[in-house]
Amino acid sequence: MSETSRRATKAVIPAAGNATRFLPVTKAVPKELLPIVDKPVLQYILEEASAAGADDIVLVTARGKDSIVDYFDVRPDLEEALAAKGKTDAIEAIKAPERIAEINAIRQGRALGLGHAVGRAAAHVGDEPFAVLLGDEFCHLDDKLLPRMIDLQAETGGIVLALMEVPPEDVSRWGVASVNPTDTADVVEVTGLVEKPAVEDAPSNLILIGRYVLPGAIFPVLDATEPGRGGEIQLTDAMDTMRANGTPVHGVVFRGRRYDTGQPTEYLQTLVKLASERDDLPGFNAWLREFSATLE
Ligand code: G1P
Repeated sequence: MSETSRRATKAVIPAAGNATRFLPVTKAVPKELLPIVDKPVLQYILEEASAAGADDIVLVTARGKDSIVDYFDVRPDLEEALAAKGKTDAIEAIKAPERIAEINAIRQGRALGLGHAVGRAAAHVGDEPFAVLLGDEFCHLDDKLLPRMIDLQAETGGIVLALMEVPPEDVSRWGVASVNPTDTADVVEVTGLVEKPAVEDAPSNLILIGRYVLPGAIFPVLDATEPGRGGEIQLTDAMDTMRANGTPVHGVVFRGRRYDTGQPTEYLQTLVKLASERDDLPGFNAWLREFSATLE
């Protein structure tokens, strides 16, 4: 088997940001733990990584965000208290986060950018391919985006990104790719990457949606990457350097179900949507229909 046929089994999840869009709550509650009813956003993201076979996880956190690590730790005291009351369902619920994956936490001491945060995982990941899942969004497990990306990366040995089409006027919030088609309908060859371009400079309306599968060879490139957009060390810039130096870069254009939680409005939409799909919240959908009618 060649070097390039290794499948990524590690995932790096940067969770060190300040989440200023959600202040004041994020003074004390990391945005990664904001609940979708009773389950934090980060749990969905870990489930996505684990379901794709990347269940050796590095969480990159920061000062004041230790509750993230606590959430995935065992709670024998609580288990005992629940057992004494015969609450077996609740015991299962608190054990679920512990069982998803093997979790390692490291700190990003200084907020120097996404590229810097990913670079903190170098010692744990080594020279293996790995997935990066940003904490603002998650995809429906049935739509299998990450497994497809990991398969493609194992074939190419290069970089695989997830891309999504957005209205051209919205591109400036994201990294943007210029692309060529391939023989596979939803796979494109990436010919350039730019972080948060002005609308008039954007090479396309295909944005990077926060799922990446990268070769371990990116770590020295990250180390050598100078601050870019916003004065931060950008993952986008390091990937574009590798591309310019001959690393194959492909994008999987995702058209499945994606749940965004990066902004208050999108977070709320995700919360309501997923709540409406549950069958253990009696009366919620009836109330939602009635309430919606009052808005018309
Ligand atoms: C980061 C990346 C950007 C990507 C986005 C996806 O930006 O730098 O390229 O499009 O995540 O969520 P951030 O949202 O951290 O500013």
